[in-house]
Amino acid sequence: MLVAPSILSADFGNLARDVKAICDSGCDLVHVDVMDGHFVPNLTLGPVVVSAVAKAATKPLDVHLMVENNTFFVDLFAPLKPGYITFHMEEEKNPHRLVQYIRELGIKPGVVLNPHTPAESVEYLLADLDMVLVMSVNPGFGGQKFIPNIVEKIKRLAALRDKINPKCLIEIDGGVNADNIEMLRDAGVDVCVAGSYVFKHESYKTAIENLKV
Ligand code: DX5
Ligand code: ZN
Repeated sequence: MLVAPSILSADFGNLARDVKAICDSGCDLVHVDVMDGHFVPNLTLGPVVVSAVAKAATKPLDVHLMVENNTFFVDLFAPLKPGYITFHMEEEKNPHRLVQYIRELGIKPGVVLNPHTPAESVEYLLADLDMVLVMSVNPGFGGQKFIPNIVEKIKRLAALRDKINPKCLIEIDGGVNADNIEMLRDAGVDVCVAGSYVFKHESYKTAIENLKV
């Protein structure tokens, strides 16, 4: 299991310190939640702040766009050279075109599924994706409760992924902790995002180790 702590739960007054700390504690990716106050009812990070995160990070950034106007935001964040950019299927009329565009920029493309969006919606995109991010809470806020029926969706998605593009990673985001991580691994998850679980833990290192199942 790869671990991508979500900096949404970090101490924003000491962001560079916290980003360095999770990287030194063995995380694999640094998950960056970009919210625009339109697609979701919350507003978070722009490229000015994320450039400071990129400077402090020694692991690739995993930029999760929760925005309207995806292409505009891809252009804003691409100069920071993130490892991944993922965007929501629910907000994009031409997801295949945007996947190609992100790849042309030298960034690994991924799509995100809200809790109501079926696994099958990515079937014809899978061959061109590096990641599918499955939301296990409604996007917008950290610290929410895991939605249990997402496990069945992960299993369906994993079956499609194994058939079409075994290299494509399945990432889960929302309500992940040490109690549900083994079940998620067994369902087919490769990468977990964890915000409150990691940042509220007394030791980031222990928290990240607990998720590496
Ligand atoms: C929610 C974000 C998540 C969030 C996860 O919209 O996409 O990345 O920070 O937080 P936890 O792990 O606390 O549920
Ligand atoms: Zn996220």
